[in-house]
Amino acid sequence: MDLGRMTRKQMEWWQEGVLYQIYPRSFRDSDGDGVGDLRGVIQSLDHLEWLGVDGVWLNPIHPSPNADWGYDVADYKGVHPELGSMKDAEELIAAAGERGIKILLDLVPNHTSRAHPWFVDALSSKDALHRDWYVWADPKPDGSPPNNWLSMFGGSAWEFDESSGQYYLHNFLDSQADLNWWSDDVRDAFDDVLRFWFEKGVAGFRIDVAHAVVKDKELRDNPPTEADDHPEIRRVGQRTVYSMNRPEVHDVLRGWRKVARSQDPPRILVGETYVLDLPRLATFYGNGDELDLAFNFPMVFSPLVGPVMKETVEMTFDQLPEVAWPVWMGSNHDVLRFPTRWCAGDERKIRIALMMLLTLRGTPFLYYGDEIGMTNVDVPYEQMKDPVGLRFHPENVGRDPGRTPMQWSGDEGAGFTDPGVTPWLPFGDHDRINVEDQKAAGGSILHLTRDLISLRKKTEDLRSVTQVTIPSPDGSFAYARGAATAVVLNMDDAPRTFEIDGDVLLTSSGRDLSASPLNLEGWEGAILVRG
Ligand code: NOJ
Repeated sequence: MDLGRMTRKQMEWWQEGVLYQIYPRSFRDSDGDGVGDLRGVIQSLDHLEWLGVDGVWLNPIHPSPNADWGYDVADYKGVHPELGSMKDAEELIAAAGERGIKILLDLVPNHTSRAHPWFVDALSSKDALHRDWYVWADPKPDGSPPNNWLSMFGGSAWEFDESSGQYYLHNFLDSQADLNWWSDDVRDAFDDVLRFWFEKGVAGFRIDVAHAVVKDKELRDNPPTEADDHPEIRRVGQRTVYSMNRPEVHDVLRGWRKVARSQDPPRILVGETYVLDLPRLATFYGNGDELDLAFNFPMVFSPLVGPVMKETVEMTFDQLPEVAWPVWMGSNHDVLRFPTRWCAGDERKIRIALMMLLTLRGTPFLYYGDEIGMTNVDVPYEQMKDPVGLRFHPENVGRDPGRTPMQWSGDEGAGFTDPGVTPWLPFGDHDRINVEDQKAAGGSILHLTRDLISLRKKTEDLRSVTQVTIPSPDGSFAYARGAATAVVLNMDDAPRTFEIDGDVLLTSSGRDLSASPLNLEGWEGAILVRG
């Protein structure tokens, strides 16, 4: 696709805008119980509006036994009492809307909690109404599980049910039973869930494990991994070609898309497409009739190295069909925080990563705390909450280090909760990294993030469909956006000179610079209007 020659077309709000992910338990605690909640999000809308974000994705807010912190849903149409009430959810949607901020919820269609009434019924007998809403299979003759599928969280993906003598499938925890997406009843039930929340005014959904809800009908064994497989695949221990990634999933995505687009105004679908190759990622956009946005994990797992990022971004553009709009993020509640993963806490790198994420052709998602360069927090075993960390400690620290409370201030309680209250996960270094101090300090990472978002709003080029790589010295990544804007990122320790003319609009360091040529320090970036 020659992006240089594409012309401007009507852009949607979610293409031009910046989205922001909130992990509700960790954003702001309004009632002093140490757990963030929806009223805490409402109280934080000033911050989100000041920052300039257009939409918020909330991790699951539904009733849940919290074996996987909300990803084990017990009622898709409810609100977890720890997080608030339905009234709070409605108020949040309305109050955010008044500020021009849209709310996206997290849809978890791959599995329910074992405590969900559907599963409780399914377990009651082989003839139960909801029995075939889940994936059941007989043991092998020796009593072992029906096939070799492994859970993403370790061990077999099958759990034996003594009373019926069958196994049920769980691609994650045994308390997260996989739904059977071959069932029309399951499909109808989820269409109903979508409509329920659309009526309440949500702008769309982030869809959990969007690539994997359909399972092989014949339950064939997964093949082993190969030496050149991505480390994330080798970590699982097999290629999940039959337990996930089935071609029939596209039919499900098309169905949801129809429901979303039949709303007034139309709603959007963002997929957690946890695949590690770009050609496969491209398939989830369909012919413009599946997901609107599909998270790009190959990018997330690329190191922050100029030539590598350049190649990943270019390959993304090459592989994605013309109808597809890319999405970029560095952190989320599973992959930990980019200021640590990509940047090892180096502020220059954090700044350049933000400049890149917020200027690439596509939609950026910031994770709460990215805007202040929040880093991972060491969570001692005794305070761990994530089942992954608890199971694999000490080889794997799990996901808690990226889920700790938002660092609003350096005060006791971090501005997250009342002084003296123990937060559900420990605070990070909120004395050093927090919103309040950075707001007061011009030139902070927070101000850079806000300036980048504001420049994106003001500069049509930065929201345009065109991005073309500009030749640049080793270790750097430079690209033209739209008709006249250029982004130049020196991703190397050594200073570099760029032969480019124009007026510098913003630098990652805050230094005032002029171009022709442009001299950047190590790990410094600039956005300019070309002369
Ligand atoms: C992906 C979610 O992002 C993750 O947090 C969760 O543990 C798994 N899906 C299972 O729902």
